[in-house]
Amino acid sequence: MSRVYLSPPDVGDEERRMLLEALDSGWIAPLGPHVDAFEAELARRVGVPYAVALSSGTAALHLALLLVGVERGDDVLVPSFTFVATANAATYAGARPVLVDSDEATWQMAPDLVAQELADRARRGTLPKAVVTVDLYGQTADYGRLVPMCEEYGVVLVEDAAEALGATHRGAAAGSFGAAGVFSFNGNKIITTSGGGMLVSGDERLAGRARHLATQAREPEAHYEHVDMGFNYRMSNLLAALGVAQLHGLDRRMGRRHDVNAAYRRALGGLPGIRFMPRADYGEPNDWLTCILVDPAEFGSTREEIRVALEALDIESRPTWKPLHLQPLFAGAPVLGGSVSARIFEHGLCLPSGSSLSDEDQQRVVELIGQMAPA
Ligand SMILES: Cc1ncc(COP(=O)(O)O)c(C=O)c1O
Repeated sequence: MSRVYLSPPDVGDEERRMLLEALDSGWIAPLGPHVDAFEAELARRVGVPYAVALSSGTAALHLALLLVGVERGDDVLVPSFTFVATANAATYAGARPVLVDSDEATWQMAPDLVAQELADRARRGTLPKAVVTVDLYGQTADYGRLVPMCEEYGVVLVEDAAEALGATHRGAAAGSFGAAGVFSFNGNKIITTSGGGMLVSGDERLAGRARHLATQAREPEAHYEHVDMGFNYRMSNLLAALGVAQLHGLDRRMGRRHDVNAAYRRALGGLPGIRFMPRADYGEPNDWLTCILVDPAEFGSTREEIRVALEALDIESRPTWKPLHLQPLFAGAPVLGGSVSARIFEHGLCLPSGSSLSDEDQQRVVELIGQMAPA
């Protein structure tokens, strides 16, 4: 039996066909018709006018922060409960991440803590340069509250939707809520280009500047002329071909992840001490990963014991993100709250959730956890 992965790439015939078509077309460089098509199709899907295909989600976050004006010495509010890339991008721009705990009811960045912090800082005249929201595990942050509060204080919002392509908030697509939105097409995401990212924006100038900075800020001259410091952040045309094929299958992949999530809930939802990541009432997640909380007092085993038992069957599962305020890297960073995300980390486990997960493999996960449950 082969290893069961948490969220492996799900590729098929269309990906192979598109990749070979791109190869045969001669457009191998980080430019070409597939990059243009991927940008146009993704922008249409998200409902924003502009999209720029990049080498990673981290690169997209870095450019987004630079282009909304984040500079050395600025503070940027970032959720603590996220992948490290969200805060690293602020550090690349010279800013200091201020880490915000999660809301118990959604696991997303806590709007109450953001509201309090913005009010306090407005009084002191020390507003942050930006608020970076994260759409965690494929469910959006609470934009019904976060967008108006950023508007009230004139603080720009950048949306890290790396995990949330296809999710919605009151009908509007994840990625469409900030001055810029960011997606990742890393190998474990809902669609993948093996590695890649996208910056989306409603601001034509911001998107144009992102495209410029991502190509080493080369000026339109025959020779190599540079005014600004740029980056080598563009996506290759070959990888964009993969992205176009993957995007065509997004709804199927999302449907499969919904089914996987629903099957886990049916099979495990009644077990003592097992709870699922709450579903917010304001939108539809893409169910990128299905995550559970394990109460050892009720369940009789810890989430780590479940993880190790799954691993013994060659099944990959993962603890939920270790909050950034508990990471040595951010030991000196200011933190607002912290106990909610710390508790989710202590008891949280992400289960195999890929769109190519077979019913049989999912059944093995369910049976093992069922066998560990108290009789
Ligand atoms: C929330 C979040 N932000 C940013 C990233 C970074 O994306 P990438 O790996 O494409 O750089 C990821 C995933 O990798 C992520 O999960």
